[in-house]
Amino acid sequence: MNSSEVLVRLKELRKLDAPTHGGKVLAYVYDSGLSELDELAEAAAAIARPLNGLDPTTFPSIAAMERDLVRFARHAFHGSRSGLGPRVVGSITSGGTESCLLAVKTARDLWRAKDPRRKHARPRLVTAVTAHAAFQKAASAFDLDWDPVPCQADGSVRAEDMIRHLGDDVALVVVSAPAYPSGALDPIREVATAAASRGISCHVDACFGGFALPWWPGAPAWDFRVSGVTSISADLHKYGYAPKGTSVLLHRGRDRHRKQFFATTRWPGYPVVNPTLLGSRSASPLAAAWAITQHLGTRGYAELTAACVRATEGIRQAVAEIPGLAVQGDPVGPALSLIADVSAPEHLQVDPHHLADEVARHGFKIQHQPGLHQTDGPDLPHSAHLTITPVTERSLTELVTALKDSADVVRGRAQANPWLELAALRLLGYGKSGRVPGPAMAWTILQVAGAGGAAKGKSLPGNMAPLMALVERLPAPVAEALLTELLARVSEPR
Ligand SMILES: Cc1ncc(COP(=O)(O)O)c(C=O)c1O
Repeated sequence: MNSSEVLVRLKELRKLDAPTHGGKVLAYVYDSGLSELDELAEAAAAIARPLNGLDPTTFPSIAAMERDLVRFARHAFHGSRSGLGPRVVGSITSGGTESCLLAVKTARDLWRAKDPRRKHARPRLVTAVTAHAAFQKAASAFDLDWDPVPCQADGSVRAEDMIRHLGDDVALVVVSAPAYPSGALDPIREVATAAASRGISCHVDACFGGFALPWWPGAPAWDFRVSGVTSISADLHKYGYAPKGTSVLLHRGRDRHRKQFFATTRWPGYPVVNPTLLGSRSASPLAAAWAITQHLGTRGYAELTAACVRATEGIRQAVAEIPGLAVQGDPVGPALSLIADVSAPEHLQVDPHHLADEVARHGFKIQHQPGLHQTDGPDLPHSAHLTITPVTERSLTELVTALKDSADVVRGRAQANPWLELAALRLLGYGKSGRVPGPAMAWTILQVAGAGGAAKGKSLPGNMAPLMALVERLPAPVAEALLTELLARVSEPR
């Protein structure tokens, strides 16, 4: 293909994608609604394209942009130096997951360094069960035992429940600002204070809300104002409105930050010193994020957050008027989780997954979240997640109409019951004694569940509710095997 044919093909492929702009997709994308930001990000990314972030001494522009971004975040999160306390320092990473992974690795290495007997020991990582799954990944990658604290049915976690899990073998306790599934702000002050009194590191995962909460009215102190907070992650590619590929991880104190690094001179090549998980790194996302923060400044972020606040409030008010539907708990920030109002009679309840399927027919995507059975706490209901961005305000009337009309269509319809797939899996013995389906069987089951088209480049079935009900009811290893197969098939060449 010549270059113009290549681009024509790419544009054809892009037509398959969900719309990234305009407020139709209430997950994954963070649209400021300002086209000038997109143009600026693109131009900045292009200027930095040839650089390699591996070595900021060879490419000092990278160091300069990192310094500015860390300074910007540190100021927003009240970590600028006052008095003689440890200086807040940090790094730019490729995204939320990398920031979370590094926060855990750093805390584990500090915990191990405290006592020679801990050199190869396996500490615990305490989080609410609603903490982002990146922490489960971190525990598995860096040899910690993930110790989830159960939540209340409203998606919040009680401080005393988290504090009860703290002990000498805990390398890190994580609190979220806010938690993605419920939008709840964890009890940061109580947990961080208890952790500090026991000498335990406390990380605030503000990957989702970090660049909205500083300007969110009424948000309690969640950042470096709380003295027990030892590190904070916040994603520039979410409410920082930068293109994907940037997050910031800040630590209280240089000692802590330096534990994040990997350095070696034990090979005959160039000395390797990596502050993050990657080696060679694109500087384009960094430059785009830098340009956007320079352009918006704190005033720009305050204005964009105000639009999110108005849109969130508008949706909350609208949901309060929809019989059978409710907002879960008392969220703080731009995430809402919609659940069935179980105080209404069953025939009036609105199942959030049927709602999400129906809303999709109006062109809006809200995200299905399966419920969770907690062995040591109440069952958490299945829900529909909404990430609310500044542009949501512009489509608010349309979105509210879609929610109301869709609720009218699905009201009284019970949660999907995937009895056929469940019976087949049970008959075949999957789930028992850790038996999980391999690729071929998982694929057969997925096709029965109607997800087969996804591997042929088509979108997932219009009705996601049955697949989600299956995920919710299966033993986790079986559900995980099915979903792994689904994603693997999507990208597998035929
Ligand atoms: C609270 C929280 N932490 C971490 C992450 C992971 O971020 P990423 O998808 O950028 O890796 C997310 C993503 O939604 C999140 O909401």
